[in-house]
Amino acid sequence: MKQTQTYNHPLRPQFHFTPETHWLNDPNGMVYFDGEYHLFYQHHPESTVWGPMHWGHAISRDLVRWEHQPIALYPDHNGFIFSGSAVVDWQDTSGFFDGGAGLVAIYTQTEMIEGTDESKQRQSIAYSRDNGRTWTPYAGNPVLTDESYPDFRDPKVFWHEASKHWVMVLAAGDRLFLYTSADLLDWTFASEFGAAEGSHDGVWECPDLFALPVDGRKGSEKWVMIVSIGDNEQLPEGSRTQYFIGEFDGKTFVNDNAPDTILWMDHGRDNYAGVTWSDAPGNGEDRLLIGWMNNWKYANLIPTGEWRGAMTLPRKLSLEHRAGGIRLIQHTPDALNELRLGGTEWSDLTVQPGDNLPLVEQGELLELAVEFELGAASEFGFKLKSGMHNDEEYETIVGYDASAGELFIDRSRAGESAFHPQFACKHGAPLGASNGRIKLRMWVDRSSLELFADDGALVMTDQLFPHAGNDRIELYAVGGSVRVVSLQLNPLQSVYAE
Ligand code: FRU
Repeated sequence: MKQTQTYNHPLRPQFHFTPETHWLNDPNGMVYFDGEYHLFYQHHPESTVWGPMHWGHAISRDLVRWEHQPIALYPDHNGFIFSGSAVVDWQDTSGFFDGGAGLVAIYTQTEMIEGTDESKQRQSIAYSRDNGRTWTPYAGNPVLTDESYPDFRDPKVFWHEASKHWVMVLAAGDRLFLYTSADLLDWTFASEFGAAEGSHDGVWECPDLFALPVDGRKGSEKWVMIVSIGDNEQLPEGSRTQYFIGEFDGKTFVNDNAPDTILWMDHGRDNYAGVTWSDAPGNGEDRLLIGWMNNWKYANLIPTGEWRGAMTLPRKLSLEHRAGGIRLIQHTPDALNELRLGGTEWSDLTVQPGDNLPLVEQGELLELAVEFELGAASEFGFKLKSGMHNDEEYETIVGYDASAGELFIDRSRAGESAFHPQFACKHGAPLGASNGRIKLRMWVDRSSLELFADDGALVMTDQLFPHAGNDRIELYAVGGSVRVVSLQLNPLQSVYAE
């Protein structure tokens, strides 16, 4: 991708996907076909706020650099193009591909009911015979309707090999419906999940369902159900994503955990509507996911430029046993490591209270891996994106509160935050120190922070809108010292650099 004027904005992400211009929300229709990763996304091509939805489109061969493509799907007589998925129809079950293979997208169409604020949501499909370059909506759309639920959307479809049928998971208000099909055209209701399980703090959206081995052992598969839940104005967290672990027989999902167990995919504020790639290399061993790095609480208000909205880094998902049971583990794909410019390593550093040990003055884009050994410090960690603006000090804190056993991000003085009263905040999640040590890894872009702890079992993704030039990063400790066993800091290259 060429560097253009538009990518120079001081808050424009340099290694996260953003639309060239205008609005982006959920990732849609991710599918791998013929050496290409496709990423479609909720897009309003005329404005930087949400509006009549289209599917924007980009293609990558390495998950690092993305080529923008023309808009894939436009609103039509059946309504706007809401979220959904895409599959490779290898055996031409749909009959769209003259016996060969091709791509089928399955998505929600939302039609406004005239004179009201209400809408009808139905599922439609479209196909592509040219590797996703152009799409034809099916003449028989919509393929699935049920007017008993006003919120009836975000179909995620996959082939269930053992049952030899397609499965669709769909969000219906406060629960999920599962359907099956032989040909992607006719759908039969199979089961329902979730009315009394997990968090119901908001409307259920953007489900996903897939199998992964536990601890990498073949034959030990469990099924993961991902469900995003919308904003709840009464709660500070806004929109966020939960997951369930269980069994699936081709028709019915059964949760292994107690109905009131809530497992959060991300403990930050800005990772929503994430779903996984169909047919990606390695699927079955692990699974590739990408999320929308934003929150419905303030998504339309964030202080960006001619674009609004970014994706998280892609995440490689796996399942591992942890103290509380089986957990979803997230790591960044190795391909991202190629963005590293020559790094610096430290070992055996002691940080005393008041030290504020500067690591770099210009840490605009970086990846950092650290191991701390707990000492007398009651709190320690990093201050990043720090500096002065209009005679005031700004910083984002990534800290560990040793007495509470909590990892936290404090973005209350991160930079611009006046656009929403709940943006400036401190939030955390429990993290135990194993053998008295804490390991963290983070990726910092111009306007975001992705923090991985507990070897990928605890993740926090947050947007930050620092003032221009505030890029210092330093180590701090409070109430006693902490030892840095090792620290690697890699400045990163922008994907727009020549
Ligand atoms: C989730 C969501 C989906 C819907 C889409 C509309 O963020 O609300 O449920 O399909 O966004 O843009």
